[in-house]
Amino acid sequence: MPDSRSRLEGKVAIVTGAGATGSGDFVGIGQAISILFARQGAKVLLVDRDEKNAEITLANIKEEGGDASILVGDVTSASDCQEMAQAAVSRYGRLNVLVNNVGISGPGSVTDVDEAFWDTVIDVNLKSVMLTSKYAIPLMIEDGGGSIINLSSIVGLRAGSGRPSHAYAASKGGIIGLSNSMAVHYGRDNIRVNCIAPGHIRSPMVARHSTDEMLELRRRAGPLGTDGTPWDVAWAIAFLASEESRWISGVTLPVDAGLLAATPLAMFPLLKDPE
Ligand SMILES: NC(=O)c1ccc[n+]([C@@H]2O[C@H](COP(=O)([O-])OP(=O)(O)OC[C@H]3O[C@@H](n4cnc5c(N)ncnc54)[C@H](O)[C@@H]3O)[C@@H](O)[C@H]2O)c1
Repeated sequence: MPDSRSRLEGKVAIVTGAGATGSGDFVGIGQAISILFARQGAKVLLVDRDEKNAEITLANIKEEGGDASILVGDVTSASDCQEMAQAAVSRYGRLNVLVNNVGISGPGSVTDVDEAFWDTVIDVNLKSVMLTSKYAIPLMIEDGGGSIINLSSIVGLRAGSGRPSHAYAASKGGIIGLSNSMAVHYGRDNIRVNCIAPGHIRSPMVARHSTDEMLELRRRAGPLGTDGTPWDVAWAIAFLASEESRWISGVTLPVDAGLLAATPLAMFPLLKDPE
């Protein structure tokens, strides 16, 4: 078992949406995953369609003496997904871990969503998991197996609050179903497939689009009553990428301050009065 400070030593990982969306200590989820992976000894292929975002994450990793490089690509493009899998092997010799982090959202219920927007969300969030996995899995098998971690959401399991985003909910629920089937059908190849379901994480993207009141409600909505950060998500993913989780496959792990454990009535006393 590797030392807990180098739990990903010797591993090669692809992180999609690895680019920075925040600044300073306020990092994006993909950025936090990539930095933590490098700190834990992995060589990281930073995939992002925005080169400038990816360069910031790369600089963060290089400053700390980590090993990473950029591949500019779009996860909705089959050729880009093929290129990223091949680049991991040609640059670093193998591929062990794939984190499907890219995800977009936007408003719309089934009765008013724009059809083209629906298709875009499903392509970016769900079809991309198929495309990246299609080219990554055969290369992982060549190296004796691997770990795939897909970013779902609590909204893939329960309806979210605020404005409906039914395309987002459908894509995040679809990711869980797809991951379970992949876990079963590639299990004998020693490919593990798990999902993370983040709750109300205080990510840069969320902070930009929320009022102070909404941010405060998000914090109080979970039994722990504290803000979740991209680092909380990244630690759970580092565990699922490491050998420490070698016997865990086909699970969806909420990282949500206990939110999914609570019924609305259980939370009522905690939410009704100002803190
Ligand atoms: N923030 C939350 O509260 C929360 C909650 C639940 C789930 N999640 C999930 O966590 C993941 C990360 O979300 P985030 O908003 O923090 O983003 P992020 O900051 O981790 O990543 C955004 C990056 O993805 C890149 N990107 C977008 N579309 C791309 C594409 N088609 N191809 C390649 N790169 C692309 C962007 O350029 C950007 O650099 C998503 O899957 C999201 O659904 C977030």
